[in-house]
Amino acid sequence: MASLVLLLLILLVPTLSLPAAHCNDNVGFQLKLTHVDAGTSYTKLQLLSRAIARSKARVAALQSAAVLPPVVDPITAARVLVTASSGEYLVDLAIGTPPLYYTAIMDTGSDLIWTQCAPCLLCADQPTPYFDVKKSATYRALPCRSSRCASLSSPSCFKKMCVYQYYYGDTASTAGVLANETFTFGAANSTKVRATNIAFGCGSLNAGDLANSSGMVGFGRGPLSLVSQLGPSRFSYCLTSYLSATPSRLYFGVYANLSSTNTSSGSPVQSTPFVINPALPNMYFLSLKAISLGTKLLPIDPLVFAINDDGTGGVIIDSGTSITWLQQDAYEAVRRGLVSAIPLTAMNDTDIGLDTCFQWPPPPNVTVTVPDFRTGHKN
Ligand SMILES: *[C@@H]1O[C@H](CO)[C@@H](O)[C@H](O)[C@H]1NC(C)=O
Ligand SMILES: *[C@@H]1O[C@H](CO)[C@@H](O)[C@H](O)[C@H]1NC(C)=O
Ligand SMILES: *[C@@H]1O[C@H](CO)[C@@H](O)[C@H](O)[C@H]1NC(C)=O
Ligand SMILES: *[C@@H]1O[C@H](CO)[C@@H](O)[C@H](O)[C@H]1NC(C)=O
Ligand SMILES: *[C@@H]1O[C@H](CO)[C@@H](O)[C@H](O)[C@H]1NC(C)=O
Ligand SMILES: *[C@@H]1O[C@H](CO)[C@@H](O)[C@H](O)[C@H]1NC(C)=O
Ligand SMILES: *[C@@H]1O[C@H](CO)[C@@H](O)[C@H](O)[C@H]1NC(C)=O
Repeated sequence: MASLVLLLLILLVPTLSLPAAHCNDNVGFQLKLTHVDAGTSYTKLQLLSRAIARSKARVAALQSAAVLPPVVDPITAARVLVTASSGEYLVDLAIGTPPLYYTAIMDTGSDLIWTQCAPCLLCADQPTPYFDVKKSATYRALPCRSSRCASLSSPSCFKKMCVYQYYYGDTASTAGVLANETFTFGAANSTKVRATNIAFGCGSLNAGDLANSSGMVGFGRGPLSLVSQLGPSRFSYCLTSYLSATPSRLYFGVYANLSSTNTSSGSPVQSTPFVINPALPNMYFLSLKAISLGTKLLPIDPLVFAINDDGTGGVIIDSGTSITWLQQDAYEAVRRGLVSAIPLTAMNDTDIGLDTCFQWPPPPNVTVTVPDFRTGHKN
């Protein structure tokens, strides 16, 4: 089927950086971000369909996190955090002493760092061995009365150890002991950085899809995320198209250097502060005011992007969603703008799951220029 699929802003978000609690500006490191479908033999169209399907599931989970009250665990009757699992990018790291190398989902939408631990009562398949705490010299279970245990939204206690439970919005979950460990960032054969006393979830009751990885690394704004625990003054990531051979990268501390970064068009990077949604304080909300296409400001009421009093609405930047997802009225304005700016027959591609597609190739007398998208964040 011949159609040009237009992806709204796919994987072009250049950098993400944030201020943090305490500045540690002299340290830093960089990691390679591996796309979940890297190294597979899918066609471009299949890669796209898979990314769209993952994004749809992710958006549904994120929306349920905002709309639904937190899940109530039937056993402890505790209200627990609801976010989304699954992701688009993986990082290499190792846990314990000696280090056990594995790959985990990098997730800006949640905060916990966790991996599956042996002996596992219920575990998902993973490509590397489960982490065996008895084989590590640096494992320390956290006591129930520790401040890190208190920063969980619903801690419980088992044999004086702090027990966590996380339910992600897509039926995935993890539960186990919260513990301190030494983590090593980077792949086994690359430059590595060690960090001691990182609190993590040693999951022995887990469910869900880990995208052929062995855990998750939360990069959210909560106290237990890797970002909060390492306390760099900033982090950034640069995502290349996953059809490109250039790897995507994640930068911490001094390596997250906005001033030395250019956008893909060569213009200097601009920045906008994150905003806090009290209902979802772990997520990176942005204040979006307007969208333009080429030189044309689209007719969109800025209120459609606002965070509502009940915590619904708002705009987030999220490592686990590869296509930009807009509120319906805003989406329709963008779609109408594109259909009128692109001199091709518009198509609804239900196979791939996108309805802003165009017939391809164009007739020989037609030249197609896709107008630039811009988003505005200032009043
Ligand atoms: C590290 O190992 C991986 C897989 O074994 C390989 O693909 C990669 O090229 C190696 N990197 C370096 C820097 O040697
Ligand atoms: C865990 O690490 C934190 C931060 O370094 C430290 O304050 C705490 O004492 C550690 N707890 C244990 C049980 O090792
Ligand atoms: C999972 O990843 C391993 C390497 O980490 C690879 O050999 C294997 O083919 C992958 N399996 C699936 C189902 O993608
Ligand atoms: C950050 O960028 C600035 C401006 O390009 C440069 O002067 C500085 O050396 C860079 N720092 C690092 C650590 O790359
Ligand atoms: C940024 O763009 C300017 C002008 O195009 C160029 O001179 C500079 O080398 C670029 N810097 C980086 C880090 O790509
Ligand atoms: C595209 O098709 C789907 C499924 O039939 C439908 O729900 C949707 O409204 C259509 N979109 C447009 C813009 O026609
Ligand atoms: C291209 O050619 C077709 C048929 O020759 C004609 O109907 C159409 O108007 C032309 N389009 C443009 C943009 O010139």
